[in-house]
Amino acid sequence: MELSRTKKIDQLALFKRECKRFFSEIYHDTEKILVFGEGDVDASLVLVGEAPGEQETIQQRPFVGKAGKNLDEFLEVLNMDREKIYITNVVKFRPFKVNEKTGRLSNRPPTREEIELSRPWLIRELGIIEPKVIVSLGNTALKTLSGRKDIKIGDMHGDPFSIELGDDGKTANLFPLYHPASIIYRRELAKVYREDLEALNAYMANLAWT
Ligand code: URA
Repeated sequence: MELSRTKKIDQLALFKRECKRFFSEIYHDTEKILVFGEGDVDASLVLVGEAPGEQETIQQRPFVGKAGKNLDEFLEVLNMDREKIYITNVVKFRPFKVNEKTGRLSNRPPTREEIELSRPWLIRELGIIEPKVIVSLGNTALKTLSGRKDIKIGDMHGDPFSIELGDDGKTANLFPLYHPASIIYRRELAKVYREDLEALNAYMANLAWT
């Protein structure tokens, strides 16, 4: 049964408290700044990225700074406002490495352990929102949400399929997309990405009538 808006907000608040406590106990020697999802708790579309970066950690919001700009283009094609969807990440803290010479931090992909620890929290978060469609952005979100390590975004992008959300029989439609940042490094993907976005648009429109 779908939760009311108020119940979702309450459950998300509890979720955040418990998630913070969990990670502060696991990583008690290094403080992790958590960046939680944001947006409309009643959204029919949820976007799931990989993990926050520097700007996200500073501003305590997912997909801001450069990543946010990439996302804007995405939303423009979908003709959607950021406030009308819900945006989150698999891992809620910034995975970084430290340059030993300069002391500067840079992003790194999350480790398998970080992803395993984060997965149940993501599933719980999505179980509260209960969107019609979950869009995974990039490989980490695709593999984490499908629970399949053998699949790759290059083979799966633009092709939706059903996934289980936890153990209580809840399911959701997963629509895999390339990560918007990958378009910057691989310009040849721009056309494919646009086609995938248009396919997502059509898919969402079709679902609205079913
Ligand atoms: N910023 C995010 O919040 N998530 C990503 O996956 C990349 C940048």
